[in-house]
Amino acid sequence: MTTIGIIGAGEVGGQLARAVIAHGHEVVLANSRGPETLRDLVGALGSSARAATAAETAEAGDFVIVAAPLRLVNTLPVDELAGKIVLDTNNYMPWRDGRFPAVDTGEKTVHELRQEHLPTSMVAKAFSHIQAPRLLGSARPAGTPGRHALSVSSDHPEAVELVTRLYDELGFDTVDNSPLSESWRSGPGQPAWFAHAHQTREELAANLARARRIPYPYRG
Ligand SMILES: NC(=O)c1ccc[n+]([C@@H]2O[C@H](COP(=O)([O-])OP(=O)(O)OC[C@H]3O[C@@H](n4cnc5c(N)ncnc54)[C@H](OP(=O)(O)O)[C@@H]3O)[C@@H](O)[C@H]2O)c1
Repeated sequence: MTTIGIIGAGEVGGQLARAVIAHGHEVVLANSRGPETLRDLVGALGSSARAATAAETAEAGDFVIVAAPLRLVNTLPVDELAGKIVLDTNNYMPWRDGRFPAVDTGEKTVHELRQEHLPTSMVAKAFSHIQAPRLLGSARPAGTPGRHALSVSSDHPEAVELVTRLYDELGFDTVDNSPLSESWRSGPGQPAWFAHAHQTREELAANLARARRIPYPYRG
């Protein structure tokens, strides 16, 4: 059993919590407003879940999932996340997140920026191109023909390994789309993104290869 910290307890954080609890793990969840605002969600998730501050969540997690949009000002608990693998589900939505000039010019991906915000953590882009409810609905056991595949990008091989194991456990195949500088290939507006409802490992690999740099507002 693993304790998984989840910072961001909205659509993705909540569904990921359900999925990992169903596989025997414990979760600690945080949002931006404080643990008391998560009473209903934690009650619905049951005894394998508890709410905490973001710093406590980071400290408690064997690894941590950040299911919250990137912000220009980093408010994540950098020190408590030091040395840990951090899975980043975020997608760049300028209408929601504001503009990141380095991303708009193609100089960096949003996930490289997250890695810069968390220099002592091992960041991996994960769970970013699947709609949250499908995390439970599309899961299939290993070996199922046509099993849904998800991509992972990281500059750290141990993070890719962890995500690959977690995907398999939760019911998905993996395509490694590392390093983080390549993570735009699965971002909004790209073929892998549009095929989020279902793609096999072969289809996802082909879709990642077909990705082309496209102008703002679609840059990952
Ligand atoms: N929805 C999907 O199906 C989906 C699928 C794949 C990827 N994504 C991406 O994943 C990210 C999260 O999406 P979502 O749909 O789950 O968003 P959401 O429903 O709006 O939830 C975001 C969560 O993040 C929390 N949060 C924001 N900033 C925080 C901070 N500094 N510290 C702690 N918690 C913080 C929010 O807390 P408060 O409510 O207290 O502010 C909220 O619980 C987005 O970038 C999205 O594009 C979404």
